[in-house]
Amino acid sequence: MGKIVIAIDGYSGCGKSSTAKAVAKDLGFTYIDSGAMYRAATVHFLNHYLSPANPHDVEKGLKSLEVSFHLNPETNRQETYLGGLNVEDEIRTMRVSEKVSEIATIKEIRKELVAQQQRLGKKKGVVMDGRDIGSVVFPDAELKVFMTADLETRAIRRQQELLEKGELVELEVIKTNLAERDRIDSSRVESPLKKVADAVEIDTSNLTFEGQVATIVQLAREVI
Ligand code: C5P
Repeated sequence: MGKIVIAIDGYSGCGKSSTAKAVAKDLGFTYIDSGAMYRAATVHFLNHYLSPANPHDVEKGLKSLEVSFHLNPETNRQETYLGGLNVEDEIRTMRVSEKVSEIATIKEIRKELVAQQQRLGKKKGVVMDGRDIGSVVFPDAELKVFMTADLETRAIRRQQELLEKGELVELEVIKTNLAERDRIDSSRVESPLKKVADAVEIDTSNLTFEGQVATIVQLAREVI
């Protein structure tokens, strides 16, 4: 089977990550969660009390920013590391969700993470999800998908995910966070979230998880 790049972009909480992961598994591809990299950068800035609004802090933060992914052999789950620290659970907390889009507006931070993402996808055979994968990271990706879902559906799904990790958050708080991230991500100057002309749009509001995965796998098989 040929190796291609599959770019999955879309709004916050559409199920991009879990869908992309399952698509990669089905095709025997590598899954790369670009959002996890922005989230890890956020933990780094928060932990070191660095402000993304201060250019000196950004420069300092980028010098020591080291994000990587490692497979946990016990759970068979790919986990995100910041230096030697496993931050997989921390990056999914509301503390990080509330700060990440601000971090992601900074040009220098994007430049560094986009370069890392391009290196990770160089050999193809990857499924990468994010906001600018089809537009900036891999504009030549063989398959581009743009996922959407209505806000209510997305918030309910995210609330369930957080609950499974032991964090109880009110639906309204989650809705506000998703809407605010969508607003910042879509209106920022640097690589704003948008559907590119050659992306296939999939509205997952009324699709099952299996349906979402099967649709993308089918599209991929038509290209491979
Ligand atoms: O995908 P996830 O929701 O984990 O991403 C968290 C945040 O990281 C997004 O809301 C967005 O601000 C930023 N992001 C980005 N570009 C990407 C991936 C994520 O700006 N490629």
